[in-house]
Amino acid sequence: MNAPEPALNAALAAPSAAATRPMPHVLNTYGRLPIALSHGQGCWVWDTHGKRYLDGLGGIAVNTLGHGHPKLVPALQEQVAKLIHTSNYYEVPLQEQLAAKLCEISGLDGAFFCNSGLEANEAALKIARKFGHDKGIDRPEIIVYEKAFHGRSIATLSATGNPKVQAGFGPLVEGFVRVPMNDLAAVEAVAKSNPNVVAVFLETIQGEGGVNPSRWEYLQGLRKLCDAQGWLLMLDEVQCGIGRTGKWFAHQWAGIQPDVMPLAKGLGSGVPIGAVVCGPRALNVLGPGNHGTTFGGNPLAMRAGVETLRICEEDGLLANAATVGALLHQGLVREIGALPGVMDIRGAGLMIGIELDRPCGVLLGRAAEAGLMISVTADKVIRIVPPLILSAEEAAQIVAILAPLVKAFLSEAT
Ligand SMILES: Cc1ncc(COP(=O)(O)O)c(C=O)c1O
Repeated sequence: MNAPEPALNAALAAPSAAATRPMPHVLNTYGRLPIALSHGQGCWVWDTHGKRYLDGLGGIAVNTLGHGHPKLVPALQEQVAKLIHTSNYYEVPLQEQLAAKLCEISGLDGAFFCNSGLEANEAALKIARKFGHDKGIDRPEIIVYEKAFHGRSIATLSATGNPKVQAGFGPLVEGFVRVPMNDLAAVEAVAKSNPNVVAVFLETIQGEGGVNPSRWEYLQGLRKLCDAQGWLLMLDEVQCGIGRTGKWFAHQWAGIQPDVMPLAKGLGSGVPIGAVVCGPRALNVLGPGNHGTTFGGNPLAMRAGVETLRICEEDGLLANAATVGALLHQGLVREIGALPGVMDIRGAGLMIGIELDRPCGVLLGRAAEAGLMISVTADKVIRIVPPLILSAEEAAQIVAILAPLVKAFLSEAT
């Protein structure tokens, strides 16, 4: 290896306050546990000391196929050797292949590819605004939701309904009208009073906000209202999409279709990817020069998407998410559902939230100590979003590890 440049040498040697952290040259933007992960297999991950963890987190709903999947790994190895990136100056046949598959499974008509959830949502917001401008609305507005999370760019954090995410980043982007979830009358009231609305934008199941599902009748009502008003229905399926709930997309449980659907997380099984999938009303809103990204749709990410969807189908992972998710849910209800501090256990398939009556962030570290990876979101909600390959046995192991931790936690003085 070449010696580092002098400036880099000096920087590496310079003592600083950051040097007390285990990763002193990485900006301090995450509260991390002191665990360094080394490798994984299936639903299991090992740290650099050889300790094993059951992965109830799936990289935050990302590792659809778990770790080291025997079908995904050789396909990606082959792709890396062939072509990783080319640019969007040229055709990328794998983009068409993945877009066609996304259209087949969603019933929609076309896709734009990017690299992350927030980028997919940015594209959706741009589509909504341009859709409005094309109709002659100069200051288009978009209905968004309390407790929503859409990302951390300036526009997507403005659409997000969490003051903690927004704090320190004002002025926020204008053009959003906020309503509570599952309250159709609130949206109808906006429809009556605000002629500038062009779209309704929500997560089918809120993830970061605490695993809060939209009621299916509510989504059906929204679909009708959007049709009547000429609005776009934009469903953020970044976290709940790609088979996690037992259908390809969570809104399919309600038997409706959105006009615009941002995707990311699980679509690449860990390879960064984002997509916004559009129905006829949104399909031709953006034209050449309106939107783009350097990395978006590169052959490696597209291959990861194609293989993820193929393997999900071949291996029956949607059905697995539904059945193993139900077992996990039942196990949790049986073991901790009746505890006084457990307010609710909710979700769909392998997207489960356990709401406690008090902040429980401390459980993240305790679960890791006990060999389980989970997350805590919205302060009080334990979230379980494991790989879709989770077995019934592993689901039982999650319950067996988590239940005593929750019991002990709730029995502590507050
Ligand atoms: C529903 C939803 N939308 C958007 C995002 C942002 O995705 P990313 O972190 O890939 O930008 C997230 C991330 O948690 C999410 O859950």
